[in-house]
Amino acid sequence: MAARILVVDDDEAVRTLLATMLSNEGYQVTEVHDGMEAMATIEREVPDLVVLDYMMPGWSGAEVCRRIRERCGLQLPVVFVSAAEDRAARLAAKEAGADEFLSKPIDRIELMVRVRNLLRLKFELDRREEKRRRLEQELEQMESTLLRAERLASLGTMAGSVGHELKNLGMILYGVIDLVKEAYDEDRSPNTEDLKALDRVSEHLVAHARNLESLSQPRPDRVESLDLRTLFEPTIKGLERMGRIKHVKMELSLPETPVPVWISRVRFEQVLTNLVINGADAVKQAKRKKGAVRVSLSVAEDRAQVEVADDGCGIPAEALERIFDPYYTTKPPEIGTGLGLTIVRSLVTGFGGTLRVQSTLDQGSTFSFDLPLQP
Ligand SMILES: Nc1ncnc2c1ncn2[C@@H]1O[C@H](COP(=O)(O)OP(=O)(O)OP(=O)(O)O)[C@@H](O)[C@H]1O
Ligand SMILES: [Mg+2]
Repeated sequence: MAARILVVDDDEAVRTLLATMLSNEGYQVTEVHDGMEAMATIEREVPDLVVLDYMMPGWSGAEVCRRIRERCGLQLPVVFVSAAEDRAARLAAKEAGADEFLSKPIDRIELMVRVRNLLRLKFELDRREEKRRRLEQELEQMESTLLRAERLASLGTMAGSVGHELKNLGMILYGVIDLVKEAYDEDRSPNTEDLKALDRVSEHLVAHARNLESLSQPRPDRVESLDLRTLFEPTIKGLERMGRIKHVKMELSLPETPVPVWISRVRFEQVLTNLVINGADAVKQAKRKKGAVRVSLSVAEDRAQVEVADDGCGIPAEALERIFDPYYTTKPPEIGTGLGLTIVRSLVTGFGGTLRVQSTLDQGSTFSFDLPLQP
């Protein structure tokens, strides 16, 4: 497509001459006779180059050039043409942002060379600008795709973690329902402890449902001041009802004095549940006749220390790094999703503690973590 050139000159003879010279070279020329008309034309459609008379009635060439710079920046090259051979005019033109300056009478060859060079430069700049814009757009698109993917991934992890706990709770429910059924079959009333466990499971269910509900507007967990010792027994009782730890001997060791902490009960019980189930699974895998899972709470260096130790199968050294990865599991899919330790680690970090693991293959593992005491 031919380059479009706007010629602005109040002198009709000069304007026609310029227009003829330029059209003969194959450019598409538009002629106007003053600055106002020039700006109106540019408003309608920005040309590729402007040839501008310096001395005009109304807006001077310098004034028009300033307006062009304001409207189009440096994208639109401007060539000044003037009868005045004086330096002051050249200086004013340069200051107004002119790209070239030609004196009348106009030398055709000089005009052509300057116009061609300016157009070449302009098209090259346009091409680069276009490329930059395209890259910027692509980058923006990539960024938003990435953001969406990240959001989806964290949504997936969140849904996975809630599903994971719902599965554990469902298994506890099954266990309790079995016990209640058994009582009915034997014509006696169900154990009140079993019925109490239903309360706990319901509380957990509601807490996880709230978490799901608040996905669009995350809320912090409800934390309270409590004696950490009180959370162990109900959790272990619940797990025993679930049946998954029937094969192990549970040992619990608690300190004599209260261990005051400021914590979310549901979250702490979630951590304990996951670690104990893992320990029990490990004992089962070791196929030892008598395996135990030992849970202990102590206070050291002004922090609560929790330990869950098992004499299960242990963890090979090369797997120690990976057990915290989401979806890393060595269990069949109906038993393990591999999210347990990922969740446990992030919850312990949230408590203000650190989760550690020590393990010897074929002997057992110890998971431990600390958390701050309530001041
Ligand atoms: N106490 C342990 N002894 C031996 N291996 C363990 C122990 N705890 C975790 N592991 C290993 O780490 C893996 C990941 O544990 P994690 O709790 O994250 O997932 P999972 O137990 O497989 O599945 P789930 O999501 O149901 O908890 C386990 O599959 C197991 O191989
Ligand atoms: Mg697990």
